[in-house]
Amino acid sequence: MKIILKKIDDKFFNILSLIYYTLIDFKLFLTFYLNSFKTIKPSVNTPFIYKNEIDTLKLDGVVRIRNFFDLNIINKLEQDFNNLKKNYENLSKAKIDANISKKILDKQTFEKGEKYYKNLLTNIQIQDPLVKSPLLLQIALNQNFIDIAKMYFNTNNVFITGANYRRSYSNQLPANDTQLYHRDRNSFKILKFFIYLNDVDENSGPFQYILYSHKNWPIFSNRKYRWDDHYIESKFAPESIFSGTSSVGDVIIADTTGFHKGKKLNKKFRTMITLNYSTFAENGGNKVKIKNFEKYPFEITNEQKEILKYASIEC
Ligand SMILES: [Fe+2]
Repeated sequence: MKIILKKIDDKFFNILSLIYYTLIDFKLFLTFYLNSFKTIKPSVNTPFIYKNEIDTLKLDGVVRIRNFFDLNIINKLEQDFNNLKKNYENLSKAKIDANISKKILDKQTFEKGEKYYKNLLTNIQIQDPLVKSPLLLQIALNQNFIDIAKMYFNTNNVFITGANYRRSYSNQLPANDTQLYHRDRNSFKILKFFIYLNDVDENSGPFQYILYSHKNWPIFSNRKYRWDDHYIESKFAPESIFSGTSSVGDVIIADTTGFHKGKKLNKKFRTMITLNYSTFAENGGNKVKIKNFEKYPFEITNEQKEILKYASIEC
């Protein structure tokens, strides 16, 4: 039934998708504004040193902060990722994109090693990263991120709503999934913090963002969820493309309700953490909640537990 509807839709200018995604946008908008009546003004740790970055973020939809993290922290995170990814049981189900009989990375293929399976798929990711990696949870709870989110949303009620711990590979496969431009629809407004664990230049998959598109986007772009570069380049000027090349220690923050993608890699790999912050729980998906706070090797305060109450992780 779904396939038939999709075929009909494709024949008629994707009118059904246009209605569907516009209704979702409208629903998210309503939820966001109804929720905003309950919020209280932000109170942050003084002095708040990221005021200029907040102004840029509000205006452009994206900002890069250089040297945000000490390199020792990034090295520890990279080690942590490398340790976790050694064990097949720590990985989320990974879709095989190469044209072979297997559709999912199974244990047998995984055991042939990263050099082998990197050619078969776009990325691997750690399952339930905020549960599996206490270090990552500590990074997510750092006060600067929370204060930036509070100032961006102009409310004290901000929550960590998701996390992703992922390695993307260069290979011969075509760009797909997150490597195609899209607007996130997990919330009307959402802030994502991107932390690279290796240096990223134009060839190693930088985050790409269309400036101002968190506020303005062509209504007919709701005809599809994902768009290729050709479409985006026909709608936006070349100078409105932000390319998030970065050195380790930098952080990129974006309101990903604007158009964005991860550029297809031409070399090596890119290991990246994504942390999501919003003012209420994200929409949809199968989620796992953090329950066993006492299992972490550090104390999590009641205030932090409140920030984590919608911290669901894709399973
Ligand atoms: Fe996205």
